[in-house]
Amino acid sequence: MGEIVSTSLRDGIAVVRVDKPPVNAMDQSVRAGLKIAFSQLRARSEVRAIVLTCAGRTFIAGADIKEFDTGIAEPGYHEVFRLIEDSPVPVIAAVHGTALGAGTEVSLACHYRVAAEGASFGLPELSLGIIPGAGGTQRMPRLIQLDAAAEMMLLGRPLRAAQAKELGLVDQVVTGDVKEGAVAYAKTLVAAGKGPRKTRERPVIGAEKLEETLKSKRAQVSKTMRNRQSPIKLLEALQAAAEKPFDEGLEVEKAASTALEQATESRALRHLFFAEREVRKIPGLSPSVTPRLIDRIGIIGAGTMGGGIAMVFANAGLPVTVVDAKQEALDGARVTIRKNYERSVSRGSLAADQMEARIQLITFALDYKAIATADLIIEAVFENMELKKQIFAKLDQIAKPGAILGTNTSTLDIDAIAAATKRPQDVIGLHFFSPANVMPLLEIVQAKKTADDVLVTALELAKKARKVGVVAHVCYGFIGNRMMDPYAREAEHCVLEGATPEEVDSALEDFGMAMGILAVFDMAGVDIGHLTRVARGDAFHNDPTFYRPSAMLTERGWLGQKVGRGYYRYQDGKRVVDQEVITLLHAEGIRLGVPQRKPSAEEIRERCLYAMINEGARVLEDGIAFRASDIDVVYASGYGFPRYRGGPMFYADSVGLKKIYDRILEFQRSLDPQYWQPAPLLEKLAKAGSSFGQWQAEQAAS
Ligand SMILES: NC(=O)c1ccc[n+]([C@@H]2O[C@H](COP(=O)([O-])OP(=O)(O)OC[C@H]3O[C@@H](n4cnc5c(N)ncnc54)[C@H](O)[C@@H]3O)[C@@H](O)[C@H]2O)c1
Repeated sequence: MGEIVSTSLRDGIAVVRVDKPPVNAMDQSVRAGLKIAFSQLRARSEVRAIVLTCAGRTFIAGADIKEFDTGIAEPGYHEVFRLIEDSPVPVIAAVHGTALGAGTEVSLACHYRVAAEGASFGLPELSLGIIPGAGGTQRMPRLIQLDAAAEMMLLGRPLRAAQAKELGLVDQVVTGDVKEGAVAYAKTLVAAGKGPRKTRERPVIGAEKLEETLKSKRAQVSKTMRNRQSPIKLLEALQAAAEKPFDEGLEVEKAASTALEQATESRALRHLFFAEREVRKIPGLSPSVTPRLIDRIGIIGAGTMGGGIAMVFANAGLPVTVVDAKQEALDGARVTIRKNYERSVSRGSLAADQMEARIQLITFALDYKAIATADLIIEAVFENMELKKQIFAKLDQIAKPGAILGTNTSTLDIDAIAAATKRPQDVIGLHFFSPANVMPLLEIVQAKKTADDVLVTALELAKKARKVGVVAHVCYGFIGNRMMDPYAREAEHCVLEGATPEEVDSALEDFGMAMGILAVFDMAGVDIGHLTRVARGDAFHNDPTFYRPSAMLTERGWLGQKVGRGYYRYQDGKRVVDQEVITLLHAEGIRLGVPQRKPSAEEIRERCLYAMINEGARVLEDGIAFRASDIDVVYASGYGFPRYRGGPMFYADSVGLKKIYDRILEFQRSLDPQYWQPAPLLEKLAKAGSSFGQWQAEQAAS
């Protein structure tokens, strides 16, 4: 292996090259290498300019996240960046690929920036609950307008080369080899007698509009980034850049970074960052298991889910055939799919020719024979066990040997579905979320007899389809919907006790849920959940209050958004309070003898979330999820759980399991002694002063 940082010199132009695969992340070894390179170059009088470049597919793309926990090793970012900025000869960053985080920041400490045509510059720190901490908040607004700097950091949206040039961040965009382009640019600088141009000595651009910028950005933050600290700290650091000398501004940035790194928000976001990588590891699976080849996809059912799933695979470049029993359903899916793609084209996220290519990949048929050659068939018909069994028996007849047979069921017993075939080893749950072409989560349900290579294929496919694949096992609702059940039960019970649907939803939205659960029911169809629970029959709690509000609304045909009323009324696309529903449900609460007590927002949150967490502990005990952090990934990517709280199990740890356990015992005493039972795992960990995180680490070690 070559050196991590190497230096070469030709015609007076030194090239410092970073080579740290896979993405040249700025860890201690890169910083140390840069320190040596730039120190040595200072002493060489023949050097007239320096180009900083990277090997491989990208410029420096990020830092070493592990240093959050261990502390930054010497030499630190500021020392190295200052050394670069203080170079007596011009330093030119040659950027290709994606400069991210510390990569963008080191380019700001250089005196000039040359970018390859396809390059981009991003400062995505907020997605980890921190702010750029290596001078980014102080240097960026000295190169581009303050409000543009604030916008890119708040949204975490990278600037593409052409846009960066327009804004003033990039001096030249080059086609072809970026290092050669930067060397040529360096020569023109030298010939023109241009020297170093220190970013820190330049004024902040747009500082005179500071008040205006802060006002609009604060409004944006309070609206779209509720409950979060890092955007507020970011604006403070940008304000310091505009108001204070550079070094003082840097101190503000440093203090904010240090405080944020220790805060729960950043710990939660980092937890999810690692958890999303961990989900791919399957305990006990031999590394020699290889995936099956998947070239053609078949889908049964052209409804809401079937159409969306077809788009997922067409987006991944795979040909898809959709079969439905009804021609109208096929026609409907064809129209919806085109409409969805056209929306992406009009938004600019998809080229028109790409849209056509993807649409070409999707064909429709009434006859099951059309999917006989598919390598993977996914069933997405109505949630009905008998129907699904019939379809799998039929698939057993027509599917080619070795084809994987997937079901998109949300709740049903996949072992029973698999038993309808003579090849249960090929059957697996592939639970997509609605809208399937948008939602990142895929719950992969390993049934009792699912073969290892089928599981591995599903994980590979999730990656190819840009989904977060999380492995679950068979039980009612798997990981996600199983834990949703007690959460939603509490929400509905609170309504029977006298809270309005709006009070319940607001309490949950104030916590950070993307939507309150009752509004979610209205969106998905109040009848969907109700009918699923009815179908579940005997496994069902024998309690007349259980999900009574949804049952009442379904009986009246108030099925939610699709009919214009449900828990709320819908007028001109707006959700409004429905007094009739409130009166109806409260009267029902009284009729059922539910004590009327109007729970506070705090109590609503605690009851809904602690019931969900308690069920999460059971999901772990029952082996439905491999890890507590897998549950967190499911909830953050499929259920609108706020990422900055890390998912339900991380959130539970941050509250403290003892506190949650004690509250559950209080609910047991004051609300329902039979319903509120702490899960044995929760009880054990709470009494031991432990946490789900600790339990997971112990499980992994044993
Ligand atoms: N809608 C959601 O939010 C959602 C989310 C996750 C999972 N799911 C699950 O996905 C599955 C499908 O749900 P959906 O909402 O897309 O249903 P849907 O009612 O929109 O569509 C079902 C389609 O299946 C077709 N169909 C019925 N019987 C058939 C047969 N024998 N052969 C071929 N086609 C047949 C119907 O004509 C219809 O077009 C269900 O198991 C559901 O639980 C739904």
